[in-house]
Amino acid sequence: MARSCLSIVLAAGEGTRMKSSLPKVLHEVAGLPMVAHVLRAAELAGATRLAVVVGREAERIAAVASRHGRDASVFEQTERLGTAHAVLAARDAIEEGFDDILVLFGDTPLIRPETLTRARAALMAGADICVIGFRPPDPTGYGRLIEHEGSLVAIREEKDASDAERMIRFCNGGVMAFRGEGALDLLDRIGNANAKGEYYLTDIVEIARAAGRTAKAIEADPDEVLGVNNRVELAGVEAIWQARRRREVMLGGATLQAPDTVFFSHDTVLEPDCTIEPNVVFGPGAQVAGGAVVHAFSHIAGATIGEGASVGPFARLRPGADLARGAKVGNFCEVKGAIIGEGAKVNHLTYIGDAVVGAGSNIGAGTITCNYDGFNKHRTVIGENVFVGSNSALVAPVSIGDGAYVASGSVVTEDVPPEALAIARGRQVNKDGRGRAINERNKAAKVAAKAAKAED
Ligand code: UD1
Ligand code: CA
Repeated sequence: MARSCLSIVLAAGEGTRMKSSLPKVLHEVAGLPMVAHVLRAAELAGATRLAVVVGREAERIAAVASRHGRDASVFEQTERLGTAHAVLAARDAIEEGFDDILVLFGDTPLIRPETLTRARAALMAGADICVIGFRPPDPTGYGRLIEHEGSLVAIREEKDASDAERMIRFCNGGVMAFRGEGALDLLDRIGNANAKGEYYLTDIVEIARAAGRTAKAIEADPDEVLGVNNRVELAGVEAIWQARRRREVMLGGATLQAPDTVFFSHDTVLEPDCTIEPNVVFGPGAQVAGGAVVHAFSHIAGATIGEGASVGPFARLRPGADLARGAKVGNFCEVKGAIIGEGAKVNHLTYIGDAVVGAGSNIGAGTITCNYDGFNKHRTVIGENVFVGSNSALVAPVSIGDGAYVASGSVVTEDVPPEALAIARGRQVNKDGRGRAINERNKAAKVAAKAAKAED
């Protein structure tokens, strides 16, 4: 049977260096709050129960966690007395009894589920505690991992370390897994007699060893334990996240012509054999099917791009844009809340909002669905194989039947029956010789003005 696992995410950081009204762990990486990244990694590593320890704004953080589908209990740590004290804020959850307990930091969003799984595997193999270590280029400020014959003996915080201990380069990443059984007893024995006067979670290692238990350290990539304290570090973490995802999507079969210029949301789905040209940005909720091409400088959010469809260059797909197989949305077009049917074309300078465009229809350059009357939104329904001439305004609510033809420059305010021709504009009048007369008059005016200026 699978082992039960409680994951406790510590998020009571002050975050003052973010200079923000938003709690630090709610700042986003790839459009997802940092704490939600951490909860997601914990779930993927098999956590069966999630707890978050916060210092303030518990409700806001709980709301964010549940919005992202994570059923987490939020505990408040009113005084910030150290990482062990923070873990004990979740005492009620720990008392429920779990095989494994994972402790993570809410401001360390790049932790990989695989690494957490490795730490749990170490518990399964017999260790009572497994600490995730790393080797930073500069270990200053981190707790040092003191090992002996393959076991972890102690973690020494920088401020409490001897000169010899400070020479150790293997550091505590902050993520820890420990056996749930007896954990409360060990945690309750942690004191605060140290340089910072804090209850250090890291002391659990020595306390456990004294009680005859075993601890072990495993090594992770330094990127995984990068913490965010200010917006420069937030941007650094975002860059690493994006680089990882680009690699993943390319290895998953998507072509990125200039990977460094493509930006993903946490939930972007690219199916094999799609092509993404340079300078494309994905907001949340985007999906691209195989054979589809997203041309340069497009912005895609909340949109589904079907097989073999083509988007851009310079296109914007907003939430609810749904392009069927082989549909085409070209340059300087915006689509929102609209289905573009199979093989339909919206090629140039067009806005399609709150609409359906049937299969095989062609929407001419400059066409606008006038979906908003200043108060309410209305729908435009365009049938199959419809031709809408350039620069038409389709004033919703309005429908255009299958096979209909709308003349260029029409302002369509009434429904168009199938196969009808709709012309809704002034009729053209040609007046013989009037063009020449106007030119002569304008030329004479210009000459007169020039002469008057010379006399001044
Ligand atoms: C901690 C580790 C250190 C490790 C480093 C990695 C301890 C004692 N030290 O040090 O070994 O190398 O992380 O980054 O654990 N927190 C609370 N409540 C508290 C105190 C902290 O929720 O009372 C949270 C913070 O929000 C933060 C995390 O715990 O997310 C780490 O706390 P921090 O004070 O930054 O610990 P470090 O000194 O960095
Ligand atoms: Ca820290």
